[in-house]
Amino acid sequence: MPGVGDRQPTWLIVGEAPGEEEDRQGEPFVGRAGHLLDRMLTALALRRGQGVYIANVLKCRPPRNRNPQPQEIAQCTPYLWRQIALLQPRIILALGRFAAQTLLAEGGCLPPQELAATPLGRLRGRVFTARLGTRTVPVVVSYHPAYLLRNPADKAKAWADLCLAAQTLESSVLSSTG
Ligand code: URA
Repeated sequence: MPGVGDRQPTWLIVGEAPGEEEDRQGEPFVGRAGHLLDRMLTALALRRGQGVYIANVLKCRPPRNRNPQPQEIAQCTPYLWRQIALLQPRIILALGRFAAQTLLAEGGCLPPQELAATPLGRLRGRVFTARLGTRTVPVVVSYHPAYLLRNPADKAKAWADLCLAAQTLESSVLSSTG
């Protein structure tokens, strides 16, 4: 399941892997976590499909929803990177540990060993610049919506991350239009 949405998106949202419901429907983030993601997008006046593309690091569902394994991530990363090159998003929101580690390592933002040792709470709340060939794209990391369903107290931090991403986008528009 490669992902869905606007083929010329401003926003690219990257999650972990399709779950059972996503596998059945062929669309990312359609379960409870997806509903929360939709509410977060609505709060930013965004809608999936309109300026937004949603993808996952893994393109197939890991059996029994287990965590992705390193070799699975390594196999899927070239597809994600090709998607990013084709979609040319203006900002990427990495949701959860696996999306953050994959995008920040592959984008040359932090060395993989440092990433593996850094908790998500210390990767969020800042703007990274990922290298994509000759281009760069800003990446903001936040909590995965499934984590937020279990830890609603962190929703305020996730909202701050979304606002940071929106502000980053706004300032890049202002600087490109002079
Ligand atoms: N969680 C994800 O990371 N991706 C999905 O598509 C659904 C749930």
